[in-house]
Amino acid sequence: MCKSVMICLAIVASLSMVLAQTQTQTCAQANSLDFNNQTYFSGQWLEVARNPASNVSCITLNVGYLGNTNVLVNVTHSSSNVSLLADVHESANITLVAGSTTGYNVSIVQGQNTEYVFIKLLQYVNNTYLVGCRYSNGSDTSSSAGFILARANYTAEGVKISNNNAAPLFSNFQANTYGNVTQLNCYASSAGQTVPLTLISGFLALALLLIKA
Ligand SMILES: *[C@@H]1O[C@H](CO)[C@@H](O)[C@H](O)[C@H]1NC(C)=O
Ligand SMILES: *[C@@H]1O[C@H](CO)[C@@H](O)[C@H](O)[C@H]1NC(C)=O
Ligand SMILES: *[C@@H]1O[C@H](CO)[C@@H](O)[C@H](O)[C@H]1NC(C)=O
Ligand SMILES: *[C@@H]1O[C@H](CO)[C@@H](O)[C@H](O)[C@H]1NC(C)=O
Ligand SMILES: *[C@@H]1O[C@H](CO)[C@@H](O)[C@H](O)[C@H]1NC(C)=O
Ligand SMILES: *[C@@H]1O[C@H](CO)[C@@H](O)[C@H](O)[C@H]1NC(C)=O
Ligand SMILES: *[C@@H]1O[C@H](CO)[C@@H](O)[C@H](O)[C@H]1NC(C)=O
Ligand SMILES: *[C@@H]1O[C@H](CO)[C@@H](O)[C@H](O)[C@H]1NC(C)=O
Ligand SMILES: *[C@@H]1O[C@H](CO)[C@@H](O)[C@H](O)[C@H]1NC(C)=O
Ligand SMILES: *[C@@H]1O[C@H](CO)[C@@H](O)[C@H](O)[C@H]1NC(C)=O
Repeated sequence: MCKSVMICLAIVASLSMVLAQTQTQTCAQANSLDFNNQTYFSGQWLEVARNPASNVSCITLNVGYLGNTNVLVNVTHSSSNVSLLADVHESANITLVAGSTTGYNVSIVQGQNTEYVFIKLLQYVNNTYLVGCRYSNGSDTSSSAGFILARANYTAEGVKISNNNAAPLFSNFQANTYGNVTQLNCYASSAGQTVPLTLISGFLALALLLIKA
C-alpha cells in the first residue's frame, strides 16, 4: 500500500494528529493536575460555571493544606439556584498521594451526610481559573459535570474563554454552553444579621474599573 517507509510514517503521523485533535476525553479518562500545589491552589475560590448547570448558587470554596499530606476544603453554597443565602456548609479532607494525577474520590461531609464525588483538576489558567470535572459513577457520563472555579478577579469573558478552550479537549465542556453559577449579591446569615459574602464580585469590580477609567 505505502510506496515507502517514509510515506507510510507520514500517513500514520497525520492520522494520529487528526485523532489527537478530534478525540475529547471523558472525566473518567482524563488526567488530573497534582492537587498538591499549595502556592497556586490554596485560598478562596468561587465556582463560576458548571455544565450541566448547577442546581445551587453562591458556591465558595476555601482551600487549605496540612503540609504535603492533606487538602482541607470548606464549601459554602445556597440551597437552590434561586436562593442567594449561602447557608449550606460542606467540608472535605483529602489525603494526598505524592505526585498523583488520577484525581481523588473526595468524601464531602454535610452534617450527618457523606457524599462521594470523584474530582479531577484539568487546567489552571492565568492564575485565575481552575477548570475541573467531577463524577459519581465512572461508567455513567450523566453523573459527570465540568466546572470552572475562579479567583475573585474573574471576568465573564475569562470564564467563556476557559470554557471554550476546554471544550475540544474534555467532553464535559461544550463551546459557548455552560451555566453561570450566580455569585452576585450572595449573602450569609450570622447572628441574626445578613452579611454580604463577596464585597465586590468580579463583574462589579470590572464595572467599577470602567467607570473610573
Ligand atoms: C503548581 O502549579 C504551577 C502553575 O501551574 C505549575 O507550574 C507547577 O508545576 C505545579 N506544581 C505541581 C507539583 O504540580
Ligand atoms: C437550576 O437547577 C435546575 C436543576 O435543579 C436546572 O435545571 C436549571 O438549569 C438551573 N438553573 C440555573 C439558572 O442554573
Ligand atoms: C474550615 O472551617 C473550619 C470551621 O469553621 C475552620 O476552622 C477551618 O480553618 C476552615 N478551613 C479552611 C481551609 O478554610
Ligand atoms: C442537586 O442535584 C444533586 C444531584 O446532582 C442532588 O443530589 C441534590 O440533592 C440536588 N440539590 C438540590 C438543592 O436540589
Ligand atoms: C484530616 O485528616 C488527617 C488524617 O488524614 C488528620 O490528621 C487531620 O486532623 C484531618 N483534619 C481535619 C481538619 O479534619
Ligand atoms: C487574579 O488574582 C490572582 C491572585 O489571587 C493573580 O495571581 C492573577 O494574576 C489575577 N488575574 C488577573 C486576570 O488579573
Ligand atoms: C468513591 O468511594 C465510595 C466509597 O468507597 C464508593 O462507593 C464509590 O464508588 C467511589 N466512587 C468512584 C467514582 O470511584
Ligand atoms: C454506574 O453506571 C452504570 C452504567 O449506567 C450502571 O450500570 C451501574 O449500576 C452504576 N453503578 C452504581 C454504583 O450506581
Ligand atoms: C490568559 O492570558 C492570555 C494572555 O494575556 C490571554 O490571551 C488569555 O485570553 C487569558 N485567558 C483567560 C481565560 O482569560
Ligand atoms: C453567563 O454570563 C455571561 C455574562 O454575564 C452571559 O453573557 C451568558 O449569557 C451567561 N450564560 C448563561 C447560560 O446564562
